[in-house]
Amino acid sequence: MGVRRGERWIIRHVDLTVDRGQLIYLVGANGAGKSTCAKAILGLLAVDEGSIERTPDLRVGYVPQRLALNPTLPLTVRRLMTLTERFPSRRIESALAAVGLHRLGNPPVTTLSGGEFQRLLLARALIHRPDLLVLDEPAQGVDMAGSGVLLDLIQDIRRDLRCGVLLISHDLDAAMSSGDHVVALVPHAHDERPVDQTAPHAGAAPRGSRQD
Ligand SMILES: Nc1ncnc2c1ncn2[C@@H]1O[C@H](COP(=O)(O)OP(=O)(O)OP(=O)(O)O)[C@@H](O)[C@H]1O
Ligand SMILES: [Mg+2]
Repeated sequence: MGVRRGERWIIRHVDLTVDRGQLIYLVGANGAGKSTCAKAILGLLAVDEGSIERTPDLRVGYVPQRLALNPTLPLTVRRLMTLTERFPSRRIESALAAVGLHRLGNPPVTTLSGGEFQRLLLARALIHRPDLLVLDEPAQGVDMAGSGVLLDLIQDIRRDLRCGVLLISHDLDAAMSSGDHVVALVPHAHDERPVDQTAPHAGAAPRGSRQD
């Protein structure tokens, strides 16, 4: 797939598949097009070349790189969970419990620490019980120990839900050690194919979603 803005290809020749149960890392320097790629996969922006193939009725959960929240709105933790769709409180509690935030009460989201906020965004993505989880730098603002905990959490979620995970990250060590595939985007090298470094379990799981 390719996405162009004006004369410039932001991403091009990106070919990646996320099968059910797989953890696929998307890495690359700032501006390489990782967030653009995630949005294209989610259908949030249209591709100018190629196509995105999704399993019918695929449920997706998304943790965006940035969430534009109005700081003047008194948005609480539980309100954020139901901002776009209402869920029974049981579902909310179990999503918060899955990320270890169930004992937090219901404070305004502005008072959460960076790590707590990232876990809240993960809970918000989980509540949809996704088949595919797209996480755009979920460990931002989280310290090194915290990002290890977050990665463990993502792995638990992947096992519990048997979902595919597309994880955008700058942590190459984690990518190489825990990813099923690592897809590296190279900025401005739009006539090159992305480097795809394939770890052992390639193609073992049934197809969850596919993007060309
Ligand atoms: N709507 C747009 N119009 C024009 N250019 C855009 C648009 N969206 C993104 N870009 C450009 O495309 C490039 C890729 O942006 P993107 O946000 O996908 O990068 P990224 O790999 O996620 O970077 P980072 O690691 O900093 O998050 C950047 O140079 C950005 O300025
Ligand atoms: Mg980005």
